[in-house]
Amino acid sequence: MKQLNHLGIILDGNGRWAQKLNKDRTFGHKQGMNKIFDTIKWCQAENIAYVTLFCFSTENWNRPVKEVDYLMKFPGQIFSDKELKKYIANGIRIIWVGRRTKVPKKTRQALENAESKTEQQTKTIVNLALDYGSGEELVSAVTKICQGILQQKFELNDINQDLIYNNLYTCASPPIDFLIRTGGEQRLSNFMLLQLGYAELYFTKIYWPDFDAIALKTAIADYYARDRRFGRIEV
Ligand code: IPE
Ligand code: MG
Repeated sequence: MKQLNHLGIILDGNGRWAQKLNKDRTFGHKQGMNKIFDTIKWCQAENIAYVTLFCFSTENWNRPVKEVDYLMKFPGQIFSDKELKKYIANGIRIIWVGRRTKVPKKTRQALENAESKTEQQTKTIVNLALDYGSGEELVSAVTKICQGILQQKFELNDINQDLIYNNLYTCASPPIDFLIRTGGEQRLSNFMLLQLGYAELYFTKIYWPDFDAIALKTAIADYYARDRRFGRIEV
């Protein structure tokens, strides 16, 4: 049995959930994003110390402008100073993992404000993946490593797995133990490809707005029933 330290979630199915109710897709995003705080609380109740949430991918820019605009507004709403007090009171630190240069200024400010207001918190680290994709993350990591070499902070021979891992956006977190994807698709969609190297994968048909504490418990029970060998064999 291996403690579930780091849970990753691909929050999928918002649009289909709304369409099923004959509502606009953005209604699904509203429901989905408004439950982020509750989700973190459920994770705390399960003794999970690291949570990584995939909210917007580097490919999601290809959606209609109206939908992208809507999604760019949610950080400002869920991380108002009033809401952030709840995060602080519960020991939650927010870290934005993703490209910082492309999102609108207001989105960036909201995310960076959430990061700075919660940076002293240590109970739960929440990596919020927004404009995140593994390919882009590797570009960013390689760029940082090359800069380090050019600035003579280290040399070519110093490149090893730890150095690469420490230059990923998620460097404050251990690798992901368990990945839940809601919404029924069975793919990784460019999410944390290195960090998921030995993760257990779990796919559920439940749309993200319907995913609740019971569904999380069911998924976690599945995790603890698995045998994680990390390439070793039973002895
Ligand atoms: C997940 O819901 C949220 C984001 C990717 C932003 P979707 O918007 O992908 O919902 P479906 O998959 O179309 O139902
Ligand atoms: Mg989807």
